Amino acid sequence: MPPVPATYPPHLQAPGTSAAPFRPVGSIEDLPEGALRRVTFDDLDVLLAHTPVGVVATDDRCPHMSAPLSIGDLDGCVVACPLHEGRFDLCTGDIVQMPTTGGLDPDGVYHPTWSPAGREPKVDPPGKKAEARRVTRVRRLRYYPLRIVDGRVEIAIPLIAESVTRG
Ligand code: FES
Repeated sequence: MPPVPATYPPHLQAPGTSAAPFRPVGSIEDLPEGALRRVTFDDLDVLLAHTPVGVVATDDRCPHMSAPLSIGDLDGCVVACPLHEGRFDLCTGDIVQMPTTGGLDPDGVYHPTWSPAGREPKVDPPGKKAEARRVTRVRRLRYYPLRIVDGRVEIAIPLIAESVTRG
């Protein structure tokens, strides 16, 4: 079956993209299944991911502390962040594994810092760093509408982002 755009939860569509023009970001041949790629529009970095259920475009910023997911690892629909071991399902937008630093999930539920099984939970020393970890919220993924036209991948990007580079 030829590659297709993957569906995503409609409420997770990136703001400002409903009426945005579609822009070409490369050939689908350069994005085989399992691949992750970054494309950049001015200061907007977008992740293209070819999952088993199709191709998605989302911010190339980890929902935790903005690390580039494009240099993470994709296993099925789940991308592993290169920092803090957070894992995110690109097909559903769900968190599969909270970052090891803990903090707030998108619903505001607190998760402690990760500790090895069988050990006492790690306690951060008091201070701003611990406070920052505690109140850092993992945001929800945001998706850009995507289509594949004559073998070319196109995504909807608001007009403010003009020039395109590929990473
Ligand atoms: S920046 Fe990705 S898990 Fe922390």
